[in-house]
Amino acid sequence: MDRILIRGGNRLNGTIPISGAKNSALTLLPCALLTDEPLTLRNLPRLADVDSFGHLLNQLGCSTMIEGTRPEDFGRVMTMRAGSVSATIAPYDIVRKMRASILVLGPLLARAGEAKVSLPGGCAIGNRPIDLHLKALEAFGAEMETESGYVTARAKGGRLPGGTMIFPVVSVGATENALMAASRAKGTCIIENAAREPEIVDLCKLLVAMGVHIDGIGTETLTIEGVDRLHGATYRVMADRIEAGSYACAVGIAGGSVDLLGADASEMAATLDALRQAGVQVEEHKKGIKVSADGPLGPLTLSTAPYPGFATDMQAQFMAMLLKADGASVLTETIFENRYMHVPELMRMGADIQVKGRTAVVRGVDRLAGAPVMATDLRASMSLIIAGLAAEGETQVNRVYHLDRGYERLEEKLQAVGADIERVSDG
Ligand code: UD1
Repeated sequence: MDRILIRGGNRLNGTIPISGAKNSALTLLPCALLTDEPLTLRNLPRLADVDSFGHLLNQLGCSTMIEGTRPEDFGRVMTMRAGSVSATIAPYDIVRKMRASILVLGPLLARAGEAKVSLPGGCAIGNRPIDLHLKALEAFGAEMETESGYVTARAKGGRLPGGTMIFPVVSVGATENALMAASRAKGTCIIENAAREPEIVDLCKLLVAMGVHIDGIGTETLTIEGVDRLHGATYRVMADRIEAGSYACAVGIAGGSVDLLGADASEMAATLDALRQAGVQVEEHKKGIKVSADGPLGPLTLSTAPYPGFATDMQAQFMAMLLKADGASVLTETIFENRYMHVPELMRMGADIQVKGRTAVVRGVDRLAGAPVMATDLRASMSLIIAGLAAEGETQVNRVYHLDRGYERLEEKLQAVGADIERVSDG
């Protein structure tokens, strides 16, 4: 199994190209199931999760072809074609390994009139139910049945009649499944209290490019007029705002000045506000965002919230950045109940953190010390990398497969800006 070794203390200077967004890619890929025409996605990040999603699409009868991008390039182009759908099931084994597989539920139901998906069960960051995904499909007229760990959704006559779903809480995944299911409905589908994340906007834009009519894109009320037949499209995946924010936190703690090429400031306001408040200089320009830091940062009080609030996907990286801040920071996690798995690992590096319920108090320390650490999820792993960049001595981050799920060639990008970081393989 691979490990990442970091010898901390180097300042970061230079340019980091920002990849296509993982969270967007994983909701755009299943749209290939909605049409018998080719769908081409550009700027897809090279990530383990994207590969796994491609394999799932293959199992459902959708071909995938990666165009000849050179190995040294970031991102790639993939053309998918589901001439017909040969299976309508996402099995337990796949859903267990990659939660995003549940996003085939909506498109399979829309295209084939039936879909069966394994219930995902718990995961490292908490109990992540899919009841709202199911309620949305039901609200649009699907017949639902849950048995033996699987849920089956059916549309009488092959197409959903339409309806209104009022979400009691904002859910990104459920809004995505609902949008894709609605795209071929006979009648109008309305989503109230929809998630407004930029990745949802990206999905809406692709659906519109495929012929669906959607009103209210980017707002909490989405009105979808489904079409009988969606057509193919070529679409560029948006830049990864979480990857960009993660590298900004790395600069915050390590010091230096890095240009985040391709990052879109308009989608990262809460992250950029928090960085500025901590004392990181943030300059927006035409091609991206330049972040610079020099000396200890100030403490922050942050609470995670649905977009446009401060993203739960940035909580762990900000916590790492604030480990050496001048004072006490207070972070509150409101989206997931168990998203502090990185805390004990950071404490092994000398961090001073107290967790009480959903709140973590982080008291800045003068010194962090490298240590062998491991994490249980993607963003938690990134927080260990960020802490390692500012720790004395060597940090060894284990279970690198978490990082490979969400950060395209992390060690190469950090090496290029001066970090002493390498991947070692046990063969
Ligand atoms: C969430 C984050 C998203 C992040 C992703 C991965 C929010 C609103 N969503 O998306 O930004 O990229 O994790 O870290 O910040 N819920 C239910 N029933 C459901 C679905 C969700 O109760 O059927 C609850 C969840 O437990 C959670 C909240 O709703 O407390 C938001 O979850 P949701 O947005 O659906 O999660 P993801 O789509 O995984």
